[in-house]
Amino acid sequence: MTEKLQDIAQAMVAPGKGILAADESSGTIKKRFDSIGVTSTDEVRRDYREMLFRATDAMKSCISGVILYDETIRQKAKDGTTLVDVMKAAGAIPGIKVDTGAKPLAGPTAKIETVTEGLDGLRERLAEYHALGARFAKWRAVITIADGVPTWNCLKANAHALARYAALCQEAGIVPIVEPEVLMDGPHSAHDIDECYRVTEWTLRTVFRELYDARVSLEGMVLKPNMIIAGQKSARQSSAEEVAEKTIRCLKATVPASVPGIAFLSGGQSDELATRHLSLMNAAGNLPWALTFSYGRALQAAALKAWGGKPENVAAGQRAFAHRARMNGLAALGKWNAGLEKAA
Ligand code: 13P
Repeated sequence: MTEKLQDIAQAMVAPGKGILAADESSGTIKKRFDSIGVTSTDEVRRDYREMLFRATDAMKSCISGVILYDETIRQKAKDGTTLVDVMKAAGAIPGIKVDTGAKPLAGPTAKIETVTEGLDGLRERLAEYHALGARFAKWRAVITIADGVPTWNCLKANAHALARYAALCQEAGIVPIVEPEVLMDGPHSAHDIDECYRVTEWTLRTVFRELYDARVSLEGMVLKPNMIIAGQKSARQSSAEEVAEKTIRCLKATVPASVPGIAFLSGGQSDELATRHLSLMNAAGNLPWALTFSYGRALQAAALKAWGGKPENVAAGQRAFAHRARMNGLAALGKWNAGLEKAA
């Protein structure tokens, strides 16, 4: 097999394409389904995700890869085809979430800070996921901003785990998505944009130092960071231009040019703002890496609502998903504008 990590990573951030994060754990997808009054069963989860993956035109033109949850990578579509084959037929690379979640970090900040777990047995799990078709993986570390938080202990523990995960992925022929998320939502989100900048810079510097120590090949990874943005509870919200400018500045100061691409999480931004921010950054140009999306909520929220769990709404759900995929595909080229939203 001649699949090179670098080629997979390049394909994940191909021009005008981004990643669909559909790797919600059973607990998280239940919350999403609760919001539309739908009971979460394995069959309904399958139907919902099959709806997205069969939006073939949008998948083909705008989605380079899909991050799956363990259940989904093993599931079959209604007609018996594996969901992995459904997305591959639509030109998307299968990916897999491999962390087992963010757990309280023992110590004085255990009520606020977490460390992401999942390293035990990971080598064996990666071999199985590779056999099931996965060519990239995801591990999400969560960093919270609060009084005296993050602590150095939390940053160090999470960055070290990310580097150990990334090295194991590369050993298995799988491209690691390295995701250190500085939260913008939740109970601790009163910080302003400059505090987000300071903590994100510190986080990324720590992560790249650990990746270096673990001898992770930067050419064979994709970074999935937060944008530099005020917390949802902050009284001082920033303009889209300020978010774009500070995000680029922070990333240029911390992310080596040998990383092929950066794919943002949406983190609680509205659908349209997540698109607008990405487009502004790409329109600014002169970037050393590809900048694209790896959105969960900002790609799926409209589709989830339009579908509402009803088989007769599948086409409407696919239309809503296709629209957001197209808008973000344009944003990845710096070619989105608000008028295109209205024209849909
Ligand atoms: P959001 O875009 O909803 O933040 O999710 C992306 C993701 O994969 C978080 O790990």
